[in-house]
Amino acid sequence: MAELDKPQREVGVPGDWTYASAPESREIVHISDRYGYFVGGEWLEPAETYETIAPRDEEPLATVGQATAEDVGRAVAAARNAYADGWSSLPGSERAKYLFRIARVLQERSREFAVLESLNGGKPIKESRDVDLPLAAAHFFYYAGWADKLEYASPNRRPRPVGVAAQIIPWNFPLLMLAWKIAPALAAGNTVVLKPAETTPLTALLFCDVVRQAELPPGVVNIVTGDGRTGAELVSHPDVNKIAFTGSTEVGKAIQKTLAGTGKRLTLELGGKAANIIFDDAPLDQAVEGIVNGIYFNQGHVCCAGSRLLVEESIYETVVSKLKRRMRTLRVGDPLDKNTDVGAINSKQQLDKIGSLVQAGIDEGAEIYQPPCKLPERGYWFVPTVFTNVAQSYRIAQEEIFGPVLSVLTFRTPDEAIEKANNTPYGLSAGVWTEKGSRILAMAQRLKAGVVWANTYNRFDPASPFGGYKESGFGREGGRHGLGPYVALDDA
Ligand code: NAI
Ligand code: MG
Repeated sequence: MAELDKPQREVGVPGDWTYASAPESREIVHISDRYGYFVGGEWLEPAETYETIAPRDEEPLATVGQATAEDVGRAVAAARNAYADGWSSLPGSERAKYLFRIARVLQERSREFAVLESLNGGKPIKESRDVDLPLAAAHFFYYAGWADKLEYASPNRRPRPVGVAAQIIPWNFPLLMLAWKIAPALAAGNTVVLKPAETTPLTALLFCDVVRQAELPPGVVNIVTGDGRTGAELVSHPDVNKIAFTGSTEVGKAIQKTLAGTGKRLTLELGGKAANIIFDDAPLDQAVEGIVNGIYFNQGHVCCAGSRLLVEESIYETVVSKLKRRMRTLRVGDPLDKNTDVGAINSKQQLDKIGSLVQAGIDEGAEIYQPPCKLPERGYWFVPTVFTNVAQSYRIAQEEIFGPVLSVLTFRTPDEAIEKANNTPYGLSAGVWTEKGSRILAMAQRLKAGVVWANTYNRFDPASPFGGYKESGFGREGGRHGLGPYVALDDA
């Protein structure tokens, strides 16, 4: 244990094994000074604008539009025209060709997109390169495969598209959430207006160039930028048939109120406070990797993050000491450095939220550990943090922090683990680590979570449905289930 508390060695000291910096070049991607709205295949000039920045150093990257009700109206009209003008009646096999093209162009341009994603959002390049981009392309490939098979998936019914979909996405996986939303909508013959989050508009705007390269008919995909006001205009627009939202539970509830009685379709993918449960027979070194991946991946800006660690009491000391040792090896810093494990916090607002919840944890009496760590001077940063001695009632055990902060609790029996895991308003995901297959199945059945990972964490596949219970929202994205919200079924 004493080993743990020695300060880290300085870079450049003889015998030091720290990696030298290995920055990815940002030259590969061209960023325009100013972006408008992509509507009907053309760029509309914005009247109101704001600056989007790089969270690693607050460098301004581009000027983007804050779309008004009028701009939103134009985008919805363009989507409606494209819908009526042929897209909705195109044979599925033809729609599939466009989706395959988009997937291939994303693969070809993946390095460019990965750099832009890390620059604008703050996530480590190794994650945008190895996770976000391959998965985004995979979603388009996957749903391309469904476009001509909707009839087989709905026996004795006639599937048809729903109409114009309004899609509002968050800043934690900007391009990947775009892919989750756009791919199934288009596969089923809908057209879309998508609004990226205000802090991370740039990969969605670059995606417009992919749409152009794929020669998608104008108006099938429209992108408007802006903050929550633009999102609210989109939600309340009368000519929108379906809303897909990923973001905070607070805004999800507001959207549900706005839509009550309108007959518009809605899916909500909201927050989470997942339990990652470690039994005493689990392979502990792998479990520790899973804990780290569960909470420090993407700076903890993950709705399904394993933010509550439940450890069987008999292995508590061992797990916590292994975890702390592993945390000391995490490299926090420049998102464009290929060796970085934990990048920048997405925004000042999010950094403040994390800071205030961590302070609440300290005030309530939890014990905090942060590895020694040199943070860059500019930009938004938070040291990977673990809290022990956490009671169920503490805010850090109840509220979504959406940052690199883990709360550790213990349990003695599987019943107690289930009771604690389910004791939250959320129900998005959970993890179980044990050698016993039967125990995995028994736990998975009793955990109220949309996704339960066994002996792994944060694994995604386009063929696997994802979504929550309770305050984590409703509806599923991914897999055949993900098509449901975009398909209306008539009697055959
Ligand atoms: P947010 O829910 O305000 O933003 C998500 C998206 O919704 C953005 O595109 C935003 O512009 C839009 N939006 C905001 N207000 C809207 C409204 N009234 N009508 C329609 N669209 C609206 O989330 P925010 O403020 O960025 O983050 C706050 C907290 O929410 C985070 O700390 C985290 O706990 C949670 N969150 C959860 C996410 C998830 O993946 N489930 C993603 C982002 C945030
Ligand atoms: Mg908000």
